[in-house]
Amino acid sequence: MTPKDIDSERLSAIIDKHKAERWSLIPLLQEIQEAFGYIPPESIETIAYALNIFPVEIQGVITFYAGFSLLPKGKYVLKVCRGTACHVKGGRSILRLIKSELGLEEGETGEDYQFTLETTACLGACALAPTMMINRSYFGKLSPPKVTAILAHHSKEKE
Ligand code: FES
Repeated sequence: MTPKDIDSERLSAIIDKHKAERWSLIPLLQEIQEAFGYIPPESIETIAYALNIFPVEIQGVITFYAGFSLLPKGKYVLKVCRGTACHVKGGRSILRLIKSELGLEEGETGEDYQFTLETTACLGACALAPTMMINRSYFGKLSPPKVTAILAHHSKEKE
């Protein structure tokens, strides 16, 4: 999905669903993030109006929670573990391989919005080191051939 693909009707439906429930800001933002992969900045005014709060409050929440982003992300968000156990088991070379296969640096999203590459602290699956997540799925005991196969499986050509 690219930013120009934002379905404004879907966005309005999500906002309407949570309208007038001030406490529902976080579930509302989560639903938008889930639906579009980010919080479209142009939606903040509308959300603020619907929930009767200030736009700056929404900006504050988005900035505070790492799970929210104002920038569009790829269809697949890779979070490569940088924790100690993964580092010891070769996590750094796995990250290097992913960077070179995707042509992305940490924090970058490909021009086709297929992948976003991020790194993270321990994913809590050290026994499976080295690990990464793609969206909500875990991948462990990574090796270069396994990484290549996983990336190929998630590439556009395979869809
Ligand atoms: S250090 Fe990578 S999962 Fe714990």
